[in-house]
Amino acid sequence: MAVETTLSILKPDALEKNKIGDIINRFEEAGLTPVGLRMVHLSQNEAEQFYAVHKERPFFGELTEFMTRGPVVVMALRGENAIERNREIMGATNPDEADEGTIRADLATSIGENTVHGSDSPENAEIEVNFFFSGTQLFDR
Ligand code: PPS
Repeated sequence: MAVETTLSILKPDALEKNKIGDIINRFEEAGLTPVGLRMVHLSQNEAEQFYAVHKERPFFGELTEFMTRGPVVVMALRGENAIERNREIMGATNPDEADEGTIRADLATSIGENTVHGSDSPENAEIEVNFFFSGTQLFDR
Protein backbone atom coordinates (compact mmCIF):
# COMPACT_ATOMS: atom_id res chain seq x y z
CA MET A 1 0.00 0.00 0.00
CA ALA A 2 1.19 3.49 -0.79
CA VAL A 3 1.87 6.29 1.65
CA GLU A 4 -0.52 9.13 0.79
CA THR A 5 -1.24 12.64 2.03
CA THR A 6 -4.86 13.77 2.33
CA LEU A 7 -6.69 16.88 3.49
CA SER A 8 -8.83 16.82 6.60
CA ILE A 9 -10.97 19.73 7.77
CA LEU A 10 -12.40 19.88 11.27
CA LYS A 11 -15.54 21.89 10.51
CA PRO A 12 -17.00 24.76 12.60
CA ASP A 13 -19.30 22.40 14.57
CA ALA A 14 -16.27 20.33 15.68
CA LEU A 15 -14.62 23.44 17.13
CA GLU A 16 -17.86 24.69 18.70
CA LYS A 17 -18.12 21.35 20.54
CA ASN A 18 -14.45 21.48 21.66
CA LYS A 19 -13.62 18.27 19.80
CA ILE A 20 -10.29 19.14 18.15
CA GLY A 21 -8.31 16.89 20.49
CA ASP A 22 -10.80 14.02 20.31
CA ILE A 23 -10.75 14.02 16.50
CA ILE A 24 -6.98 14.37 16.07
CA ASN A 25 -6.49 11.56 18.59
CA ARG A 26 -8.64 9.24 16.45
CA PHE A 27 -6.47 9.92 13.40
CA GLU A 28 -3.20 9.51 15.30
CA GLU A 29 -4.35 6.26 16.93
CA ALA A 30 -5.25 4.97 13.45
CA GLY A 31 -1.75 5.69 12.13
CA LEU A 32 -2.51 8.93 10.28
CA THR A 33 0.06 11.59 11.13
CA PRO A 34 -0.59 15.34 10.85
CA VAL A 35 2.19 16.76 8.66
CA GLY A 36 0.57 20.20 8.33
CA LEU A 37 -1.94 21.84 10.64
CA ARG A 38 -3.50 25.28 11.09
CA MET A 39 -6.66 27.07 12.15
CA VAL A 40 -8.37 29.34 9.63
CA HIS A 41 -11.64 31.26 9.36
CA LEU A 42 -12.64 30.86 5.72
CA SER A 43 -13.98 33.87 3.86
CA GLN A 44 -17.14 33.40 1.77
CA ASN A 45 -14.97 33.57 -1.34
CA GLU A 46 -12.53 30.91 -0.07
CA ALA A 47 -15.38 28.55 0.89
CA GLU A 48 -17.00 29.01 -2.54
CA GLN A 49 -13.66 28.30 -4.22
CA PHE A 50 -12.94 25.22 -2.11
CA TYR A 51 -16.40 23.73 -2.74
CA ALA A 52 -16.69 24.99 -6.36
CA VAL A 53 -17.37 21.44 -7.59
CA HIS A 54 -20.69 21.56 -5.69
CA LYS A 55 -21.77 25.03 -6.85
CA GLU A 56 -24.78 23.80 -8.84
CA ARG A 57 -26.10 21.68 -5.99
CA PRO A 58 -29.13 22.91 -4.04
CA PHE A 59 -27.30 22.94 -0.70
CA PHE A 60 -24.33 25.03 -1.90
CA GLY A 61 -25.44 28.20 -0.08
CA GLU A 62 -26.12 26.30 3.12
CA LEU A 63 -22.75 24.52 2.89
CA THR A 64 -20.68 27.68 2.39
CA GLU A 65 -22.64 29.57 5.05
CA PHE A 66 -21.92 26.77 7.52
CA MET A 67 -18.24 26.51 6.60
CA THR A 68 -17.76 30.27 7.21
CA ARG A 69 -19.69 30.31 10.50
CA GLY A 70 -16.51 30.05 12.56
CA PRO A 71 -12.93 28.86 12.38
CA VAL A 72 -11.95 25.43 11.11
CA VAL A 73 -8.81 23.33 11.60
CA VAL A 74 -7.17 22.19 8.37
CA MET A 75 -4.73 19.30 8.44
CA ALA A 76 -2.64 17.38 5.98
CA LEU A 77 -2.69 13.75 7.17
CA ARG A 78 -0.10 11.28 5.99
CA GLY A 79 -0.01 7.51 6.22
CA GLU A 80 -0.55 4.22 4.41
CA ASN A 81 -3.69 4.45 2.27
CA ALA A 82 -4.46 7.77 3.99
CA ILE A 83 -7.25 8.93 1.65
CA GLU A 84 -9.46 5.87 2.10
CA ARG A 85 -8.45 5.39 5.74
CA ASN A 86 -9.45 8.98 6.57
CA ARG A 87 -12.87 8.47 5.00
CA GLU A 88 -13.38 5.23 6.92
CA ILE A 89 -12.55 6.97 10.20
CA MET A 90 -14.94 9.86 9.31
CA GLY A 91 -17.89 7.60 8.41
CA ALA A 92 -20.63 8.26 5.86
CA THR A 93 -21.53 11.85 4.86
CA ASN A 94 -24.95 11.44 6.50
CA PRO A 95 -24.31 10.70 10.20
CA ASP A 96 -27.50 8.60 10.32
CA GLU A 97 -25.80 6.21 7.89
CA ALA A 98 -22.33 6.31 9.47
CA ASP A 99 -20.89 3.15 11.03
CA GLU A 100 -20.72 2.95 14.80
CA GLY A 101 -17.51 4.36 16.24
CA THR A 102 -16.83 6.74 13.34
CA ILE A 103 -16.38 10.47 13.90
CA ARG A 104 -19.65 11.37 12.22
CA ALA A 105 -21.67 8.69 14.03
CA ASP A 106 -20.29 9.89 17.35
CA LEU A 107 -20.18 13.66 16.88
CA ALA A 108 -22.11 14.93 13.82
CA THR A 109 -25.66 16.24 13.95
CA SER A 110 -26.75 16.29 10.30
CA ILE A 111 -25.63 15.81 6.69
CA GLY A 112 -24.84 19.54 6.61
CA GLU A 113 -23.13 19.83 9.99
CA ASN A 114 -21.09 16.67 9.69
CA THR A 115 -17.98 17.65 11.66
CA VAL A 116 -15.21 16.65 9.23
CA HIS A 117 -14.25 16.80 5.57
CA GLY A 118 -11.81 14.44 3.86
CA SER A 119 -10.47 14.37 0.30
CA ASP A 120 -12.18 11.72 -1.82
CA SER A 121 -9.46 10.87 -4.39
CA PRO A 122 -5.69 11.23 -4.95
CA GLU A 123 -6.34 14.03 -7.48
CA ASN A 124 -8.53 15.99 -5.06
CA ALA A 125 -6.21 15.31 -2.12
CA GLU A 126 -3.38 17.03 -3.99
CA ILE A 127 -5.56 19.98 -5.00
CA GLU A 128 -7.03 20.35 -1.51
CA VAL A 129 -3.72 20.06 0.38
CA ASN A 130 -2.24 22.69 -1.96
CA PHE A 131 -5.29 24.92 -1.37
CA PHE A 132 -4.32 25.33 2.29
CA PHE A 133 -0.60 24.53 2.56
CA SER A 134 2.53 25.70 0.78
CA GLY A 135 5.49 23.32 0.59
CA THR A 136 7.22 24.94 3.56
CA GLN A 137 4.15 24.39 5.75
CA LEU A 138 4.32 20.60 5.32
CA PHE A 139 6.76 18.53 7.35
CA ASP A 140 8.33 15.09 6.96
CA ARG A 141 7.47 13.22 10.13
S1 PPS B 1 -19.65 13.12 -0.77
O1 PPS B 1 -19.14 12.44 0.44
O2 PPS B 1 -18.72 14.14 -1.27
O3 PPS B 1 -20.06 12.15 -1.79
O4 PPS B 1 -20.94 13.81 -0.26
P1 PPS B 1 -21.92 14.73 -1.04
O5 PPS B 1 -23.27 14.23 -0.77
O6 PPS B 1 -21.47 14.85 -2.48
O7 PPS B 1 -21.72 16.11 -0.31
C1 PPS B 1 -20.67 16.98 -0.60
C2 PPS B 1 -20.52 17.97 0.52
O8 PPS B 1 -21.71 18.69 0.72
C3 PPS B 1 -22.20 18.54 2.05
N1 PPS B 1 -23.65 18.36 2.01
C4 PPS B 1 -24.52 19.24 2.50
N2 PPS B 1 -24.35 20.41 3.11
C5 PPS B 1 -25.48 21.05 3.52
N3 PPS B 1 -26.72 20.59 3.34
C6 PPS B 1 -26.93 19.41 2.72
N4 PPS B 1 -28.18 18.96 2.53
C7 PPS B 1 -25.80 18.69 2.28
N5 PPS B 1 -25.64 17.50 1.62
C8 PPS B 1 -24.31 17.33 1.47
C9 PPS B 1 -21.54 17.32 2.61
O9 PPS B 1 -21.37 17.46 4.00
C10 PPS B 1 -20.23 17.29 1.87
O10 PPS B 1 -19.27 18.10 2.54
P2 PPS B 1 -17.75 17.68 2.59
O11 PPS B 1 -17.09 18.77 3.33
O12 PPS B 1 -17.27 17.54 1.17
O13 PPS B 1 -17.70 16.38 3.34
